[in-house]
Amino acid sequence: MDQVRIGIIMNGVTGRMGTRQHLDRSIVAIREQGGLALQDGRRLVLDPILVGRNPAKLEELARRYGIDRWTASLDDALANDDDAIYFDAQTTSMRAESVRKAIAAGKHVFCEKPTAVSLDEALELARLAREAGVKHGVVQDKLFLPGIRKLKRLVDGGFFGTMLSFRLNFGYWVFEGDWQHPNRPSWNYRSEDGGGLVLDMYPHWRYLIDNVVSPIKSVLCHSAIHIPKRWDEEGKAYDSTAEDAAYGLFELENGVTAQFTTSWATRPYRDEIGEWQLDGTHGSAVAGLRECRAQARANTPMPVWNPDIPNPIDFRAGWLEVPDNEQFENAFRAQWEMFLRHVVEDAPFDWDLMEGAKGVQLAELALRSSRERRWIDVPELVVEPA
Ligand SMILES: NC(=O)c1ccc[n+]([C@@H]2O[C@H](COP(=O)([O-])OP(=O)(O)OC[C@H]3O[C@@H](n4cnc5c(N)ncnc54)[C@H](O)[C@@H]3O)[C@@H](O)[C@H]2O)c1
Repeated sequence: MDQVRIGIIMNGVTGRMGTRQHLDRSIVAIREQGGLALQDGRRLVLDPILVGRNPAKLEELARRYGIDRWTASLDDALANDDDAIYFDAQTTSMRAESVRKAIAAGKHVFCEKPTAVSLDEALELARLAREAGVKHGVVQDKLFLPGIRKLKRLVDGGFFGTMLSFRLNFGYWVFEGDWQHPNRPSWNYRSEDGGGLVLDMYPHWRYLIDNVVSPIKSVLCHSAIHIPKRWDEEGKAYDSTAEDAAYGLFELENGVTAQFTTSWATRPYRDEIGEWQLDGTHGSAVAGLRECRAQARANTPMPVWNPDIPNPIDFRAGWLEVPDNEQFENAFRAQWEMFLRHVVEDAPFDWDLMEGAKGVQLAELALRSSRERRWIDVPELVVEPA
């Protein structure tokens, strides 16, 4: 069978997301199945080069995954005309500079969210990519979660009637780092290092709400630093300078009110670490990362307030599992495959740097809302020529 090779410069692969989701479950998984089958019958063979700061870690990763190429020099990697794609999963504050370089070198760009630490910078990247004529994409993995795919299926099928409200309860306990090892990187809790829950999570909520329910019109947010002191990877104490929880309200264009609680200082008492509930006149659904359960109007019980007796209604029993009806791939891999097809076959790909900038915009406005203690409208984004 004919093969076609594509070189992918992968920066930030020694990190949590880079190793687990992008290398292991996406690029390596596609390589292990012999590449990606293209429309014309050929196979796309992925040839990654790992880039990072620490040669020992890169060498170990490359050996573990049977990858031949690695380098500690991004400039050298970008200078190779045989590698067409630049991928970035570095810590957020490092992203813009490297993406700028990659675009200048004529590479197609795929990167993690948030695309930058400020809206101005995020828009600049979108503009540069557009002007350079390269293809570009931003990770929007939550759209490819099985639970969210099923929720979207219900929306598209008209299950909800008139949609009314959308609620998220998301988060878990991030250990402080003194007693047990911290389960998220310490830079996440320092604003000077590009951390903060709003910049981290609101880009996800932007594309998720915009794409699944309706575009966001306005935001009201209250953010908090619940845990003021943490310990880093070396066991050194530091002050938290970035929020670890945010309580957000969003008004959507179709009139739906969304209410999202996102927290690294909570302990879930629910089936999954995040659960979205969408209520409508004709039905409601609760989606997690994998599962989705729905209750139609006709199955809705009529509770009575009576704390004097044990609750007589088994509320959970009145919900039905939404079946998979298809096979769901890992959310990151699914988007990688689409981006690769976009580059090689010119297949459509909607989640570009402009969509990424919208996520940074929402984060910026939410933080401003929290500081100024007021609702803020979300203006339409345009890319101005330089
Ligand atoms: N899509 C998602 O669901 C999701 C989830 C978590 C994180 N992310 C994003 O992925 C990116 C990486 O997050 P992570 O949790 O993997 O972080 P991490 O700290 O585990 O990894 C960061 C990577 O950046 C590299 N790096 C380069 N310069 C650095 C510097 N000066 N300081 C620290 N690290 C540096 C590190 O070597 C490492 O490879 C972030 O932008 C984050 O917002 C996305």
